Amino acid sequence: MPILNDVKNALAFLCRGELKEFMFRLRVYTSKIDLRYASVDELGLSADRSHHYAHSGGVYLEKVLNSLNITAGDAIVDFGSGKGGALITFAKYPFNKISGVELLPELVTIAEQNFKKLNISNVTMTVSDAADFTDLDAYNYFYFYSPFPRSVMVDVIHNIESSLQKKPRPLRLIYCNPEFHDLIEKDSGFHKTAEFYHHQLHHLIYVYSRTP
Ligand SMILES: C[S@@+](CC[C@H](N)C(=O)[O-])C[C@H]1O[C@@H](n2cnc3c(N)ncnc32)[C@H](O)[C@@H]1O
Repeated sequence: MPILNDVKNALAFLCRGELKEFMFRLRVYTSKIDLRYASVDELGLSADRSHHYAHSGGVYLEKVLNSLNITAGDAIVDFGSGKGGALITFAKYPFNKISGVELLPELVTIAEQNFKKLNISNVTMTVSDAADFTDLDAYNYFYFYSPFPRSVMVDVIHNIESSLQKKPRPLRLIYCNPEFHDLIEKDSGFHKTAEFYHHQLHHLIYVYSRTP
């Protein structure tokens, strides 16, 4: 029973004294928004280009953002934004632009319904393979939560590189479950500057910086 599981998980956070995460889950539950996990098979995706859907929003992502002194001069894109879990968290911060890129139109539709239920109106979403989303010059923050295999990541990092050549600027990359950390540090000028832990997903979150 998915509802019973949600209630059980939310109560587990309360019992562990994690009131803020409990409140976030309560808000998800009472707003009737859909951030439920979906496997690559359920989504009909090809494992060559894509990973599953799960969301990384909530207090653990907030801890990362709280450390970064986000201002209205910042803009962020979430590569593989799914149903909008991380974007909902980004919307609590004063970014001047918040965007999601998602391969599956049906997940974008769900994300847009979620934003409506939460009265979030400052997030835009594009249906696209992340590797084809090259309009990056407006952004200085890039977010990834384990969205796709290495070959797609290589192309996206290349696109970020090209944008930086066109428009030199300081950049930050936030990477939850940094499975291709080697690629980020080896093939680009990014350096890891901070490390966090997502206690609900049991993943590390790395923050990287790059100056032009
Ligand atoms: C693990 S989920 C992350 C969701 C969201 N970023 C978050 O943190 O809440 C990965 C998402 O990437 C999407 N995805 C997978 N391959 C993709 C690709 N090649 N281009 C764009 N999106 C992709 C999946 O459909 C899924 O919604």
